[in-house]
Amino acid sequence: MADRWDAARLAAWCGLHLRAVEDALTRWVGIDAPVKLGDAMRYAVLDGGKRLRPLLVMAASESAGGNPKAAIRAACSVELIHAYSLVHDDLPCMDNDVLRRGKPTVHVQFGEADALLAGDALQALAFELLTPDDGSVTPQVQATLCRLLARAAGGQGMAGGQAIDLASVGVALDEARLREMHRLKTGALLQGSVEMGAACADVVSPTALQALRAYGAALGLAFQVVDDILDVTADSSTLGKTAGKDAASDKPTYVSLLGLDGARDQAQALLAEALAALEGSGLSDVGALRALAYMVVDRDR
Ligand code: IPE
Ligand code: IPE
Ligand code: MG
Ligand code: MG
Ligand code: MG
Repeated sequence: MADRWDAARLAAWCGLHLRAVEDALTRWVGIDAPVKLGDAMRYAVLDGGKRLRPLLVMAASESAGGNPKAAIRAACSVELIHAYSLVHDDLPCMDNDVLRRGKPTVHVQFGEADALLAGDALQALAFELLTPDDGSVTPQVQATLCRLLARAAGGQGMAGGQAIDLASVGVALDEARLREMHRLKTGALLQGSVEMGAACADVVSPTALQALRAYGAALGLAFQVVDDILDVTADSSTLGKTAGKDAASDKPTYVSLLGLDGARDQAQALLAEALAALEGSGLSDVGALRALAYMVVDRDR
């Protein structure tokens, strides 16, 4: 197996890409909306979040030799869908949370109606970003990016998973059903990020594409397993969101099903699966993707 990037190399790589993503989001989000809606959109997106999904887009695009102008748009679009999903996830009709990214949630700050609309507008903006008319992204790449994002966000992806999540309160899911819920509500958008990064290149070999899909699927599921663990082990100020929420709301999680040690073993097994997929990709430049996989499983927030 190839060398693992050290912390300094990962920090330098992330710093470069995070700056580009923050600059682009600041330029693009909420600019032409009525004042209160624009404020709510920017509040939901700017100054917070780990930006893991944009980093996955950028890393996958680099590994596949993608068009950087397509990649920055794809990276921001996926973060907008994610931010919208968080705004709606926190609403009283869903998880009823008051703390997100270390701040009061959008509906607490702006009211429920504007939180709903901010989510709607962020979703629309995501697709607008993917379809520039300045010739910088080919029509074929634009169409593929829109299709991948729509599938990851919709009824067969994030929104579908959220529906299962809400229907599963107080229900003891078996592992297959829990895995399906997590794959949809969280895994789909993370896998979609990797696939969108690859789609920024005009040509990717079927072997590489298959490997990147498998990497994204394993990593996406690992991410939610770790989210379940941190809900139990971390505190609210570290997480920037309310800890202990899953047990309090009677949600089925990897911890409620397997216990903490069992959930940690699952996360490690999924990390190994993600790394093994990269090894078989035939791509030469997968150092960032590999480092991001370790980061997902080793994180403390
Ligand atoms: C939280 O996602 C919601 C889940 C899908 C588990 P993140 O942990 O990536 O949240 P931010 O973007 O860093 O706030
Ligand atoms: C949320 O899952 C997944 C989304 C699609 C937003 P959670 O409800 O576990 O996310 P947190 O813990 O509130 O961030
Ligand atoms: Mg939820
Ligand atoms: Mg929640
Ligand atoms: Mg959670």
